[in-house]
Amino acid sequence: PDEQPVPLLPPEVLLKVFRYLGPDDLCRCGQVCTVWSHLARTGSLWKHLYPLRWARGRYCRGPPEDPEQEPDEEWEQSREEESRAWDEDADIDESEGALEDSSAIGAIQREKKVLHGIIQNLLPAVGPSVRSIVLAYSAALSSKMVRQILSLCPNLTHLDLTQTDITDSAFDSWACLGACHTLEHLDLSGCEKITDVTLKRLSLALGDLAPPTAPCAAPPTSLEAEPGGRQALVFRRRPGGGRSHGPAHVWLLDSAQLADIEDAGEWRRRGGASDGGRGLWEPLAPPTGACCCRRSRRRGLAANAASYWPQLGGVGEAGGGGHASCCGGQGLRTVSPTRGGAEFRTKRAEEAEPPRPRPRKSSCRRLRLLSLSGCYQVTDLGLRALAQRGGLPRLEHLNLSGCLFATESGLQELVTACPSLNDQHFYYCDNINGPHADTASGCQNLQCGFRACCRSGE
Ligand code: FES
Repeated sequence: PDEQPVPLLPPEVLLKVFRYLGPDDLCRCGQVCTVWSHLARTGSLWKHLYPLRWARGRYCRGPPEDPEQEPDEEWEQSREEESRAWDEDADIDESEGALEDSSAIGAIQREKKVLHGIIQNLLPAVGPSVRSIVLAYSAALSSKMVRQILSLCPNLTHLDLTQTDITDSAFDSWACLGACHTLEHLDLSGCEKITDVTLKRLSLALGDLAPPTAPCAAPPTSLEAEPGGRQALVFRRRPGGGRSHGPAHVWLLDSAQLADIEDAGEWRRRGGASDGGRGLWEPLAPPTGACCCRRSRRRGLAANAASYWPQLGGVGEAGGGGHASCCGGQGLRTVSPTRGGAEFRTKRAEEAEPPRPRPRKSSCRRLRLLSLSGCYQVTDLGLRALAQRGGLPRLEHLNLSGCLFATESGLQELVTACPSLNDQHFYYCDNINGPHADTASGCQNLQCGFRACCRSGE
């Protein structure tokens, strides 16, 4: 009576059993029934992904730090040969070598299939639980795939893209603050198409440790200059009193401030005393007796009686209640860049959308290893970007071998922002007399033969 058929076991017991299974067995279990299919997609079962090895029948599932997961040199060598065969796909002939090549091509096609399966079927369910992805030496990996993976796995700590063909566009989803603040290990060795753009995105995505700075005196000049979709005041000059279609000056403000300013303006227009935003509001006071609100009404435009602010010519017609001062040659309205330019009544502070949550500072910029070996397009600009927003306080391992355009000053700036850097794991070009020159390790690419190095011909 104590024995139950396996399918009838409670889910928590089944889950315990599933923890002993590898990815291949989990996939089989997922095909048994709906309940098993849901259980097999439990996030904690898929923390560490090795698509390339799985496609070749090596079903690793431990963390990448585990020495058992380390691939041997022979395995890496065969991956390189495979990717060469993939590149020369068009030259297949009947020779023995060609047969070997075609089996390599078959392996890469399997790899592509596995990658697509993971991206389309697995990651949408388990993405937030995934901690590490090892894609090193993948010949089938594209920038688009990496982009999809990164947007589905926001809590990655370990990402290995060694010797892949990806470009900067792979990191598009890192273009907002804190997009990958948990990242600790990033290996881009041999990714020759990577440029400073990736490093700028990485620095942004790692979060911000820097203390808040005072508001900038000079306002931004375009909506695109301010991420986060804040509301804005737009002032337009209308030469000769006509409608303006020229470029507008834009001041970006917090919605709370904006509501205050508008309410103050409304009060002032009613004849009350303005108690806030006076300096900004002053030029917008309509002259008595010549209000273009009346002109609007004559033209049959809708007036916003409830808010007392009519929508005015050239500024507010299309919106659902924006404000405009029609006299004095200037117009005012509220806009939202997040609504495709459609105008709407400014929200009060309590109605405003909550700001996007920022990562806690203690969990920001946790990067411990960064390898850019052979990324020869990286320059000082990229290194400086990494040094911003509080630097990389936990970085211990930094490989800049083969970064041919980095200079002493860029290196110095970055190293100053990396107080934990271990000189034994700090590699850069032997021809640069940079920081820690006596104690840092030299370039690792001298004998490599397939990664960029200024002395590779010697
Ligand atoms: Fe200069 Fe390798 S990059 S020695």
